[in-house]
Amino acid sequence: MAEAVYPVPAEWSRNALIDDARYQEMYERSVSEPEAFWREEARRIDWIKPFSVVKQTSFHEEDFGISWFTDGTLNLSANCLDRHLVERGDQIAILWEPDSPTAPDRRITYRQLYEQVCRLANLLKARGVRKGERVTLYLPMVPEAAVAMLACARIGAIHSIVFAGFSPDALAGRIQDCDSRVVLTADEGLRGGKKVPLKANVDEALKACPGVDSVIVLAHTKSGVPMAEGRDIDWASAVADQAAECEPVEMSAEDPLFILYTSGSTGKPKGVLHTTGGYSVWASMTHEYVFDYRPGQIYWCAADIGWVTGHSYVVYGPLMNGATTVMFEGVPNFPDPSRFWQVVDKFGVEIFYGAPTALRALMREGDDWVKKTSRQSLRLLGSVGEPINPEAWSWYHEVVGEGRCPIVDTWWQTETGGVMISPLPGATPLKPGSATRPMFGVQPKLLDNDGKEIEGPGDGCLVITDSWPGQMRTVWGDHERFFQTYFSTFKGTYFTGDGCRRDEDGYYWITGRIDDVINVSGHRMGTAEIESALVAHPKVAEAAVVGMPHEIKGQGIYAFVTCNAEVEPDDALRKELIAWVRHEIGPIATPDVIQFAPGLPKTRSGKIMRRILRKIGENDVSNLGDTSTLADPSVVDNLLANRPQPV
Ligand code: WTA
Repeated sequence: MAEAVYPVPAEWSRNALIDDARYQEMYERSVSEPEAFWREEARRIDWIKPFSVVKQTSFHEEDFGISWFTDGTLNLSANCLDRHLVERGDQIAILWEPDSPTAPDRRITYRQLYEQVCRLANLLKARGVRKGERVTLYLPMVPEAAVAMLACARIGAIHSIVFAGFSPDALAGRIQDCDSRVVLTADEGLRGGKKVPLKANVDEALKACPGVDSVIVLAHTKSGVPMAEGRDIDWASAVADQAAECEPVEMSAEDPLFILYTSGSTGKPKGVLHTTGGYSVWASMTHEYVFDYRPGQIYWCAADIGWVTGHSYVVYGPLMNGATTVMFEGVPNFPDPSRFWQVVDKFGVEIFYGAPTALRALMREGDDWVKKTSRQSLRLLGSVGEPINPEAWSWYHEVVGEGRCPIVDTWWQTETGGVMISPLPGATPLKPGSATRPMFGVQPKLLDNDGKEIEGPGDGCLVITDSWPGQMRTVWGDHERFFQTYFSTFKGTYFTGDGCRRDEDGYYWITGRIDDVINVSGHRMGTAEIESALVAHPKVAEAAVVGMPHEIKGQGIYAFVTCNAEVEPDDALRKELIAWVRHEIGPIATPDVIQFAPGLPKTRSGKIMRRILRKIGENDVSNLGDTSTLADPSVVDNLLANRPQPV
């Protein structure tokens, strides 16, 4: 069947910042003359001291290193706030929509945001926070989360945001790993009418973090949480005492900006470190071009600030570009499945950027929920976090966008800082399910398993051959792991961990992770993390986790569990293990299926044959491949005979 192609609407190619000819010309220049290209693009930033060197990067072991605009200095909070004050001080910077549609919204101007950021920055300084220190944020989707990020950036503290859905254990691990002394949180979060006990989780986590001496607590639901004398500080009253001006600290381009923990195929989550100059250029540039963004347009990225999408496209990119950015506390189906589109109508949202998993869940509820809203303000739609299946793409395009709005399907990663492969709405004819073409400066290649390049159309491992400004610079505290994880599989290139197809038009189609990472509702989970949580349970001897297809979540979690000899596995234990994993990691890691197995398929050298488990997870068991190297082939028959129903 021929792939559907959606040409660029005439109006878009006429009015957009970048049409197809301009894309081709800019892309060509970005890879043939990177120095000149980036020297110009970097003008979008207000530098305190201009840089002279553009790019010093190598992916090779001998001279490995990544550094951009190295001798320039800047402050990102000043680029998001101070420079807008004259022209747009009274423009709304953040439009906040609360969880409940009947609660009051908040509209914060650039000037108000500036003052709030300065006050909090002064409070952090008063608590002794210095440049380079790590501050952990465990906050709900409220404007203060953005205030906290910007306050850290203002004084050069490195923020580490921990998604508010993570458990106390997961939070403690992240606080310990980056050695935070200060934590910012709220009494409670609210999502879909349910309360999330954030402060109680922090109290629990801090039992394992004796180094934390300051907890700044936002009274959000005003539930009156217990406060530890000397350690806990009430946010509102403490900032009220602070000055509303705070000089931004002059940061070197390569000074760290933030750490964000993300899952990989092995071990504990890694602290992905981004630095100041290159990240700022990348977040601002991609936000402007991918969304064809002009200052003042009403723009909504529905991601949580706990994920990288929230960092780059709720806060930093939009604010650098003088946006009015919508922040939504709630969930798509509360109080009903119209909510997203009601918020679009309420604020007159022109650009909406969301995740396929939410679209699939809403699609299932039927079109009426969408159709009873107007959505006339929408001009452009975006998708991020996981492959968007053509069915969901078409629904998004026809029902939500009424055929009028291009869809930018943006492929990128926590590690890449911003969008890497995506259509530009005025330049790129769309194919449903394809992230299409590379962003400026991005040089993708496909390699086969032996590292040989696949030219032209084909399928392979997606690598990027040269650096781009928004690239992560290291794994916090483990530079060797950074090199090993991304640059050792295929020498001299950055390995993304994704599989990808390129078609005859040179369009890229991401096929999903090819390592032991699964993507559950757009959230990255390492199977190894879930396995070690399961094995930590006293009744569990061994566990192996694989992904399984899931209609809404994209992928679900399928766990094979071998219990200790004396244990009789039953439904009660299954429930216990599910609760255990939720407690160890958080609700996003809840297994969809737990299959008890007396043994796991292993080679004679004791390596688990995941290929077989993946096939069982995918319910594709007609051809399990060669099982002759298994130590005990009967293990597989047992697994096949005892496949449970989803829980
Ligand atoms: C997947 C999220 C297909 C991919 C920004 C990647 C996608 C991982 C897309 C990174 C997309 C992200 N199409 N797959 N448009 N966007 N992915 O670090 O597997 O949370 O490697 O960053 O999500 O997830 P992360």
